[in-house]
Amino acid sequence: MVLKSSPLSPEFGLIIEGVDLRDVTRSGLYPEIRQAFEESSALLFPGQSLNDTQHTALAELFGPLENRDAMAAGRDVAFEVSAVSNVIAEDQVSAPESLHTLNLQGNMLWHTDSTFLPVPALVNILTARVVPTSGGQTELASTRAAWAAMPRELKAPLQDAIIWHRLSHSRSKISSDLAAQREMTRWPDRPWRAVWPNPVTGEEGLFIASHAFAIEGMGLNEGQELIEQAINFCTQPEFVYSHNWQVGDVLIWDERCTLHRGRPWPYEQPRTLKSICCSATESDGLANVKII
Ligand code: OGA
Ligand code: MN
Repeated sequence: MVLKSSPLSPEFGLIIEGVDLRDVTRSGLYPEIRQAFEESSALLFPGQSLNDTQHTALAELFGPLENRDAMAAGRDVAFEVSAVSNVIAEDQVSAPESLHTLNLQGNMLWHTDSTFLPVPALVNILTARVVPTSGGQTELASTRAAWAAMPRELKAPLQDAIIWHRLSHSRSKISSDLAAQREMTRWPDRPWRAVWPNPVTGEEGLFIASHAFAIEGMGLNEGQELIEQAINFCTQPEFVYSHNWQVGDVLIWDERCTLHRGRPWPYEQPRTLKSICCSATESDGLANVKII
């Protein structure tokens, strides 16, 4: 079967229509969707209606469900679909200066999910349940398109670089109280190679994030300056797609070759997205970024 698709943006991504994601199985449509994911880096399926169980079943096709509590505890912990939401109780949104709201603001820095975990993510599958009347977009930047267009002076020091990642580094840009929370400090610093070649298409993406705090063999300031320049280059408008959410939309992106961020909205309005990340495995080219 051929998917009915149109471009999501000039440089990357596809909008796929005519598919009900509840019907996708390992041999039925998943192979086509997976191939489109490898080639296009981001897939938008408008007008879906996934509940948590259906969302989880879809994610399981992509790889092991990322379960941070289980990873941190080193034992089984029941998996729960994560809510990216300012709703903290029925009819109640988080207060503007609360840690909950600050944590959501951490997502507004250009990042890649899970680069600070022992195993990074392959994919995030995000779906909208409640959307605000304005703002609250999710933006994606193709570090594959940006890498291909990057001038040699910037590219050369990154090509063989090893980048160190730390969750509390990105959180400290928002608030020192937030950065000090156990959830932020529980992961040891994590190094990954800066360039992730896709094992299916051979195309390279820059594997970088707001969590990146140092480059192996470089002074801290010099490394941070290079990280900032690289992120600024990758997130220029020509490499960015900005998604205005409608309830039901499902947006899937390749964490190996994109950056993303949330945009602000009037916080007195509820906004709830549901997110599942799958961990990258050897068949996703994990060995290409692993140091040991
Ligand atoms: C995420 C994320 C941003 C947003 O789900 O990983 O960063 O738009 N979301 O809320
Ligand atoms: Mn994220």
